[in-house]
Amino acid sequence: MTNHSNELSFLQQQAKIRHKIEEGITQQFAPEDEGLQYALTAARRAGLPQIQISPIQGKLLQLLATACDAHKILEIGSLGGYSGIWLARALPANGRFITLEINPTHANLARNAFTKAGVSDRAEVRVGKALDLLPQLESEAPFDLVFIDADKSPYPQYLEWALRLTRPGGFIVADNCIRSGRVFEESGDEGEIGVREYNKRIASDPRLTSLLMAMDDDYTDGFAISVVKR
Ligand code: SAH
Ligand code: DHB
Ligand code: MG
Repeated sequence: MTNHSNELSFLQQQAKIRHKIEEGITQQFAPEDEGLQYALTAARRAGLPQIQISPIQGKLLQLLATACDAHKILEIGSLGGYSGIWLARALPANGRFITLEINPTHANLARNAFTKAGVSDRAEVRVGKALDLLPQLESEAPFDLVFIDADKSPYPQYLEWALRLTRPGGFIVADNCIRSGRVFEESGDEGEIGVREYNKRIASDPRLTSLLMAMDDDYTDGFAISVVKR
């Protein structure tokens, strides 16, 4: 056996272990019910990209929402409503979940998914470019949690809005902040540049305590989690 094939089998073994851990945590702590499964199926059938968060990420969002006793949550980037279901379900009956989506087809799928998942009483989809919709939200602030998961190049602008809209003790979470480690390099596409700047700001902003966490299915991407200091 060559060194090359030894190394390959080692890597395959590591991937298998990671998969087993992911599966085990998902089954024990973040199982998907029919509502979540419906959202996934409907989005796939409609040809949407399968770029929703993982169940473990959904459960982490719920944990953070519960930790700050969230009554008002804002999301930027709805897709088919998968992450929205996790977030809206973390709210009490009188809670509000607002999600911003530029694509009307995505917005309709998300609305339908919210109805099927039983959260349409507290979940609202607003259609438009996030940067156009965010100024209108100031009158509805403060939010307890803001989840950023739309186009990547405006992430620094989304952070500015999140900082205006989130109360002390609340959380600002952003998806896709690792990008296989490309965010730690100098070069990159527009999206990577946006996310790199986002990370730079949350790492040093005195109003925040922040951490990047690799937590997608192969640990190549993940959440940037920030708590707004009290
Ligand atoms: N949060 C979702 C995934 C979002 S994917 C989930 O985990 O289930 C990103 C979404 O952001 C897409 O639906 C895309 O149409 C939307 N989007 C992209 N640019 C946008 C913009 N400028 N304003 C609002 N939504 C945008
Ligand atoms: C992309 C966007 C996402 O929000 C995501 O979770 C994965 C990929 C993308 O635009 O490629
Ligand atoms: Mg994402």
